[in-house]
Amino acid sequence: MNEQSDQTEFNNPDNQITLGITGASGAIYGITLLSHLVKYYQQVHVMITDAARVVLATEMNINLPEAPVKIEAKLSEICQATKDQIKVYAKENWFSVVASGSSAPKQMVVCPASMGCVSSIATGASNTLMERAADVVLKEKGQLILVPREMPFSHIHLKNMLSLTESGATIMPAAPGFYHQPESIEDLINFVCGRVLNHLGIKDNLVECWGYKSS
Ligand SMILES: Cc1cc2nc3c(=O)[nH]c(=O)nc-3n(C[C@H](O)[C@H](O)[C@H](O)COP(=O)(O)O)c2cc1C
Repeated sequence: MNEQSDQTEFNNPDNQITLGITGASGAIYGITLLSHLVKYYQQVHVMITDAARVVLATEMNINLPEAPVKIEAKLSEICQATKDQIKVYAKENWFSVVASGSSAPKQMVVCPASMGCVSSIATGASNTLMERAADVVLKEKGQLILVPREMPFSHIHLKNMLSLTESGATIMPAAPGFYHQPESIEDLINFVCGRVLNHLGIKDNLVECWGYKSS
């Protein structure tokens, strides 16, 4: 955690957040976001789906081990987190803090969000811990941000996203803008992650505010 960590405390007195990483393309969005979240939150509770592990291996050559504790070590190294800052849960760990409204953080991001998980969260399926955690954040009137990636969106996808928006979630598609004249893939990734951080209440400088010029 760095000196900017107090910026989130207004929204999140516990200084904790939940992050779901699912099997949509754009695994790098999830990893980049995590590497920023550990700068601002004392604890990041992470759930990674089986499909996300496949995408991580395919897109980033990151082969995550099986055991949550080993995944924690690997992610901590990749994201430069301090010891115990990242907590990873198995998909049926119903006794974890994120599974109950009495203990779950009030903020959660799913990034990237597959259409499958968008559907499950929209219907309240709660079949995995990640789906349950999202359901908890919605029922407790917390802040749930989903970063979906698909192209094109079907009628079903759009209906699910509308339903989630009506339930209080924020849909922030992995659709970077180009008005800041990006020069690299990193710039595009930072655009999406920066906008998510802004919505969490973090004044990061990953995205230049519209109307301000850097010089
Ligand atoms: C390399 C790869 C890329 C994929 N990209 C997408 C995608 O962009 N969007 C999506 O909704 N599903 C995508 N999928 C399919 C999902 O991984 C699949 O539907 C899976 O069941 C999602 O499960 P999860 O929500 O538990 O992660 C991709 C799968 C692979 C292997």
